[in-house]
Amino acid sequence: MREKLGLLVCVWFLLYGSSVGRFVVEKNSLKVISPESLKDVYDCTIANLGVGVPQHGGTMFGTVIYPKVNQKACKNFDDFYISFKLRPGTLPIILLADRGDCYFTLKVRNAQDAGASAILVVDDRIEPLITMDTPEEDDGPDDYLKNLTIPSAFITKAFGDNIKSALSRGDLVNINLDLSNSFPHPDERVKYEFWTNSNYECGPKCENQIEFVKNFKGAAQMLEQKGHAQFTPHYITWYCPEAFLLSKLCRSQCINRGRYCALDPEEGFRRGYEGRDVVVQNLREACFFKVANESGKPWLWWDYVNDFAIWCPMKEKKYNKQCADQVIQSLGSRLTNALETPMQIKRNPVLKAEQEAQMGEGTHGAVTISPTLIINNKHYRGKLDKETVLKAICSGFQQTTKPAIYLSEDYHLNFVF
Ligand SMILES: *[C@@H]1O[C@H](CO)[C@@H](O)[C@H](O)[C@H]1NC(C)=O
Ligand SMILES: *[C@@H]1O[C@H](CO)[C@@H](O)[C@H](O)[C@H]1NC(C)=O
Repeated sequence: MREKLGLLVCVWFLLYGSSVGRFVVEKNSLKVISPESLKDVYDCTIANLGVGVPQHGGTMFGTVIYPKVNQKACKNFDDFYISFKLRPGTLPIILLADRGDCYFTLKVRNAQDAGASAILVVDDRIEPLITMDTPEEDDGPDDYLKNLTIPSAFITKAFGDNIKSALSRGDLVNINLDLSNSFPHPDERVKYEFWTNSNYECGPKCENQIEFVKNFKGAAQMLEQKGHAQFTPHYITWYCPEAFLLSKLCRSQCINRGRYCALDPEEGFRRGYEGRDVVVQNLREACFFKVANESGKPWLWWDYVNDFAIWCPMKEKKYNKQCADQVIQSLGSRLTNALETPMQIKRNPVLKAEQEAQMGEGTHGAVTISPTLIINNKHYRGKLDKETVLKAICSGFQQTTKPAIYLSEDYHLNFVF
């Protein structure tokens, strides 16, 4: 009875207005409380299309109804004068509906409109628990995706048939739908890293980085806030070779006695800003991330980097601590003090950790190219643009959870942040 293959899918949906994307579907469990003959725990795949399911999970205890008409839930239940609305003291109603004939999302919508608290869609053939990549579950008209808030789950045909016969015998079928797994666990988040440099004005290569930050910011913040991804920025620096410690080159490019160096922005050593200015700003950004992360808001990094690039450009001679601090203050002054970094000491713990991480030992291997994006410990070699990176991150779900990923063809068109 229990399917071992609780396949997972990655669905996206859109919230209109703010237009955000979201990928959630996981194997869940569903516990039949009554009747006695069906008492067990079953696998199902839950698709939380909406926003009404609590992020912290929870369970829904409800009673199953399989109406005599509109069993595929493709039509509005109003047409049949059927309502599943909650009344004081009644159990939430979980609508049982058959697969087929219309979009999966339309079934959810009809169930929700009729007042059901959840919907179970029963497979119409004997097979392992399906993902949603079947014709009727193709991305429906956008309309259906709007305002879907109730949980929806797939169950196997065998399980569905058993529920139906219990109901036809007049049994009360009560189930507990466990939603606690319906949002990715930390270890099911896609982890990604962006290896960059705070030097945004060294020509097209650097401008590409800051363009990416600008364009990707909204998506990155959303993915992180919704718990789908865990992002860490990293900064590339290098050592000055021992023999050159006293050279002009190393003195202008490095801090902490040659330990941490970055390329001079103008690639000439006398004009404008020096490599060491870049290292210091790298350090500020890395520290900013650390502090923001510790305060539970790692996504503020995107605002900081984006704002810094806008407000503190080198060409206006504002690439400095004062301007950097103003940006930090604008994002929450609490962070300012924490960012006083002791520049005198020999080793800087933050930059040291960055240099060690750069080796990528036991994880992704060394990072030698700037910028580099690493997704789930794999070097990403695609284009550094929003859509391509988003696709790669979404496919990152495939690697961690081995699901069939469900991505719309319209992804590019619809994924507007
Ligand atoms: C979605 O919900 C909002 C607010 O409840 C409402 O204004 C809007 O008309 C709804 N959209 C659809 C397509 O039902
Ligand atoms: C950010 O915070 C998370 C959770 O608290 C932690 O696991 C992670 O190591 C932190 N990252 C950094 C770079 O400090």
